[in-house]
Amino acid sequence: MPHKYKLIELLADGRFHSGEQMARVLGVTRAAVWKSLRKLESLDVELHAVSGKGYRLATPLELLNADLIKQQLLPAVAAMIPGIEVHMELPSTNGYLMAKAWAGRHGQVCLAEHQTAGRGRRGRVWHSPFGGNIYLSFLWQVADTSAHPGGASLAVAIGVARALERLGLSDIGLKWPNDIQYRGQKLAGILLEMTAESGSGCTVVAGIGLNVRLLPAHRQDIQQAVTDLQTITGAMPARNSLVATILNETFQVMRQFQNGGLSSLREEWQSRDVYRGRTVVLVTPNRWIEGTAQGIDDQGQLLLQQADGVISRFSGGELSLRAVTP
Ligand code: BTN
Repeated sequence: MPHKYKLIELLADGRFHSGEQMARVLGVTRAAVWKSLRKLESLDVELHAVSGKGYRLATPLELLNADLIKQQLLPAVAAMIPGIEVHMELPSTNGYLMAKAWAGRHGQVCLAEHQTAGRGRRGRVWHSPFGGNIYLSFLWQVADTSAHPGGASLAVAIGVARALERLGLSDIGLKWPNDIQYRGQKLAGILLEMTAESGSGCTVVAGIGLNVRLLPAHRQDIQQAVTDLQTITGAMPARNSLVATILNETFQVMRQFQNGGLSSLREEWQSRDVYRGRTVVLVTPNRWIEGTAQGIDDQGQLLLQQADGVISRFSGGELSLRAVTP
């Protein structure tokens, strides 16, 4: 592990650590410690330095820990997860599980504290600064392709919404296909990627990006109204419990999706649909279609009623939806 991350592990407790102590733990010179501390700036980790005391993080950090997460899983969910990996840094947790090595490892979970090439929908970048938010992916084998695999991303969105509600949040809404909103602002997004066809089914990697603590500099990079859990609740949530709750709820929903398809979840999805009955514009790569959002069908496709009264279905990750009138 690079020295900068070893230092973060040491400093995560929020206490002062002297240069000498850090050098000893890392087995390097004090000059090397200083160099690594400078690198923390590029991760947007704020440090306080006090002469005679040393260095500490401006705010303590609860690092993700696979054992702590596992301890909080429901037995039935733990049984569905063969392994949880936590990385300090990855290009993308989705990309990591898309690699061949993970093929067939149904339920495998991967988390990272920081993504250097986080992926969003429609080819966008998912800004993934260190140590605050949740970047989580899991691998899922969809047994039967008659259940449209794209519907899995709507199922995941229900799982995340249930988890947030379990943590006491109300006003959680879903925007087709799979944005999680709080009072009209984006709180989380989901990216579903398909890895391989396997017999009659296929393997998908579902990635969840949840805003827990966005720094002002990062908010500026995002071209839409966003919010985070710290702003909503006024406190930094316990991140390991948060991940466990997300896994508990999401894996239960995925099991329901596996057994009953999206039709068994359709009503629940629609109960949180923030655009239902509203005039919207659907943006596809080659056209804009205006209409009234009428919820989803049993496959998770958007139902859009156009001016002539005809209701059409739209599917796929290339679409986005914008409200034009309240
Ligand atoms: C969106 O555009 O709304 C989807 C964002 C999905 C981001 C998550 S973060 C974990 C996983 N790894 C990625 O590279 N992307 C997804």
